[in-house]
Amino acid sequence: MVMADTRIVEIYNLCKSFGTHKVLDDVSLNVQRGDNLVVFGRSGQGKSVLLKCIIGLMQPDSGKILINGNDVFSLSVKQLNEVRKNIGFLFQSAALYDSMTVRENLSFPLKRHFPDRTQKEIDDKINHTLELVSLSEAIDKMPSELSGGMRKRIGLARSIITDPELMLYDEPTTGLDPITTKEISELIINLQKKLNMTSIVVTHDLVCAKIIADRAIFLREAKVAYEGSIKDLTDSDDKFLKNFFSHEIVKEEE
Ligand SMILES: Nc1ncnc2c1ncn2[C@@H]1O[C@H](COP(=O)(O)OP(=O)(O)O)[C@@H](O)[C@H]1O
Ligand SMILES: [Mg+2]
Repeated sequence: MVMADTRIVEIYNLCKSFGTHKVLDDVSLNVQRGDNLVVFGRSGQGKSVLLKCIIGLMQPDSGKILINGNDVFSLSVKQLNEVRKNIGFLFQSAALYDSMTVRENLSFPLKRHFPDRTQKEIDDKINHTLELVSLSEAIDKMPSELSGGMRKRIGLARSIITDPELMLYDEPTTGLDPITTKEISELIINLQKKLNMTSIVVTHDLVCAKIIADRAIFLREAKVAYEGSIKDLTDSDDKFLKNFFSHEIVKEEE
């Protein structure tokens, strides 16, 4: 693996259609190590499809994705699993297992990815990760005993517990109230710094984006229509962007 290269994700000319519906059309993108990239776009614009392609859950029709220089779609299953080990994801629907305690939910990915770890190593890692999300006291609780924000934090703990280098977030704050949104966004950025992660964050939420992002792209009509800092995008005179963000700002002030 070439580590000198600072690009962790390279996407070239990605195309994906469902039937005649083109969802991604020649999308290219680079993410540098340590970057926090936000992906904006109205719903149905291929944001989740893009994340699924990056993690190899969905196969594009054409194009190339390199993770740390490894071409995701030319790897063997075993090699792909190695690459995936290095990627954490928090999907919107990333529900915890309801019938398992927090401890069991967290030990699950550890046991799968690191079958050789001892129980003591697993317990230590769970305790440490719960401290990172400030929820040590929840270890023996069931998900149903936790608030929405707490469940999100446990979901976050579960996705970082394997020490991924790259984190993918799909609408991490959707459905949360404004205060919890701010808390979760701040937690994401703090963890990201503490653990030296790189992240790609799909969001509708300008509050979340402003807290997290260095750089943003905007998917529209299957293309990367805009690219820049959040400020570049929100200050733009472009009619479409103005309209998109004015709706977001109304939401922010509610
Ligand atoms: N597995 C699938 N089969 C068929 N169509 C799909 C599938 N996944 C996504 N799509 C379609 O692709 C488009 C983009 O979806 P998605 O990436 O989920 O949008 P969003 O930007 O809201 O995350 C949508 O029109 C959706 O209906
Ligand atoms: Mg989506």
